[in-house]
Amino acid sequence: MDPPMVLNFFFFLLILFLCPAAISTFPLAKLGCQETCGNISVPYPFGMSNANCYRDSNFQVICNNTYYNPPKLFTLTNHEILSISLQGQQRIYNYVSSRCYDSEGNLTSSYEPILYQDNYFTYSDTENKFTAIGCDTQGYFSASGKGFQTGCMLACPDTSYLTNGSCSGIGCCQISVPKGLRYMSAVVTSINMHKYVYYFNPCSYAFIVDYNWYNYSTSDIKNFSHNIDETGNSRVPIVVDWAINWEPNIITSCDEAMKNQTSYACGNNSVCGNSKNRLGYNCNCSQGHQGNPYLQDGCQGT
Ligand SMILES: *[C@@H]1O[C@H](CO)[C@@H](O)[C@H](O)[C@H]1NC(C)=O
Ligand SMILES: *[C@@H]1O[C@H](CO)[C@@H](O)[C@H](O)[C@H]1NC(C)=O
Ligand SMILES: *[C@@H]1O[C@H](CO)[C@@H](O)[C@H](O)[C@H]1NC(C)=O
Ligand SMILES: *[C@@H]1O[C@H](CO)[C@@H](O)[C@H](O)[C@H]1NC(C)=O
Ligand SMILES: *[C@@H]1O[C@H](CO)[C@@H](O)[C@H](O)[C@H]1NC(C)=O
Ligand SMILES: *[C@@H]1O[C@H](CO)[C@@H](O)[C@H](O)[C@H]1NC(C)=O
Ligand SMILES: *[C@@H]1O[C@H](CO)[C@@H](O)[C@H](O)[C@H]1NC(C)=O
Ligand SMILES: *[C@@H]1O[C@H](CO)[C@@H](O)[C@H](O)[C@H]1NC(C)=O
Ligand SMILES: *[C@@H]1O[C@H](CO)[C@@H](O)[C@H](O)[C@H]1NC(C)=O
Repeated sequence: MDPPMVLNFFFFLLILFLCPAAISTFPLAKLGCQETCGNISVPYPFGMSNANCYRDSNFQVICNNTYYNPPKLFTLTNHEILSISLQGQQRIYNYVSSRCYDSEGNLTSSYEPILYQDNYFTYSDTENKFTAIGCDTQGYFSASGKGFQTGCMLACPDTSYLTNGSCSGIGCCQISVPKGLRYMSAVVTSINMHKYVYYFNPCSYAFIVDYNWYNYSTSDIKNFSHNIDETGNSRVPIVVDWAINWEPNIITSCDEAMKNQTSYACGNNSVCGNSKNRLGYNCNCSQGHQGNPYLQDGCQGT
């Protein structure tokens, strides 16, 4: 390199460092498709409105900007989406199962929502915990159609041992989520119908939750109330893993997927990896590239 070229080269580097935005902005969505909803990024294979914008209907999401300001993003099953990552995860709000009683032990309300479920998604086994709250409470979690059931049991006579921040069996219990779980239900039952604990704990609750988000508070024993939506029900964030698959219930490996270049989801300059959670495969930009690996030319050299 002669001196002017070296100078040019340093000038080029200087520009790179001065304009970090210029090198980190790459398209997330297909050409002509909206890539955000409010402040939430919607990277392809996810997409909104136009069928050309998402890979298939499993990745279709709905941006509701007529009713909400700022707009909110939803799944087709009407679960609010908090974020979508290209690393194969999505955070969404899920509902909380509950049963409440009066002082005589009569059931006053019961809510057993349909938990989030989809063929292309599994509950993340590393980010979530099954959680139950109450002092006269049994929380059951079952995977529909699999025969598998797990749960935990809680009894506490009064408030004396309840401790903030510690979900470890007194008023709150947590269990790990197994790998590959898709269709879940959460149910609570009660042995004495809260008759003896009614004055400080009228309800039992059960839910799956992003355990980094949930910090147990003794006030949840009195009334678990978080992120209430229009229907008046509490919601908690969960993390789901997503991957590319051909058919629900058939786990497609990278090797198989690459055989059909028409349906293969990874674009140029990308690498394929089998999903960690029994789903299918995900794509990454190969080394020295960044961007959205699910777009044909989404991975750009850096
Ligand atoms: C979007 O904005 C809300 C409220 O300002 C904030 O709580 C949330 O973390 C933001 N989400 C993302 C994905 O940046
Ligand atoms: C937006 O949300 C409101 C209230 O839930 C609902 O009535 C409306 O149909 C939604 N719009 C779209 C486009 O989904
Ligand atoms: C609770 O149920 C019992 C038996 O069914 C009934 O006699 C009582 O009136 C109920 N109590 C209330 C507060 O509804
Ligand atoms: C736990 O925190 C809540 C508020 O976050 C407070 O109302 C309650 O008194 C605390 N409980 C204990 C046992 O310190
Ligand atoms: C959870 O709450 C407890 C008490 O309210 C607090 O000491 C602790 O730092 C909190 N933990 C997290 C992870 O926020
Ligand atoms: C719990 O709190 C919510 C909101 O703070 C309130 O709407 C609801 O009535 C309360 N439920 C009970 C059983 O006190
Ligand atoms: C390849 O994928 C396309 C699009 O999904 C499909 O129509 C076609 O039948 C597949 N080809 C083979 C050989 O499986
Ligand atoms: C990307 O891949 C397609 C098909 O595999 C090829 O036709 C195209 O030339 C590639 N583009 C670049 C920039 O390498
Ligand atoms: C993509 O890269 C990230 C970060 O290096 C890694 O954690 C992840 O396992 C990779 N995924 C695939 C499908 O290769």
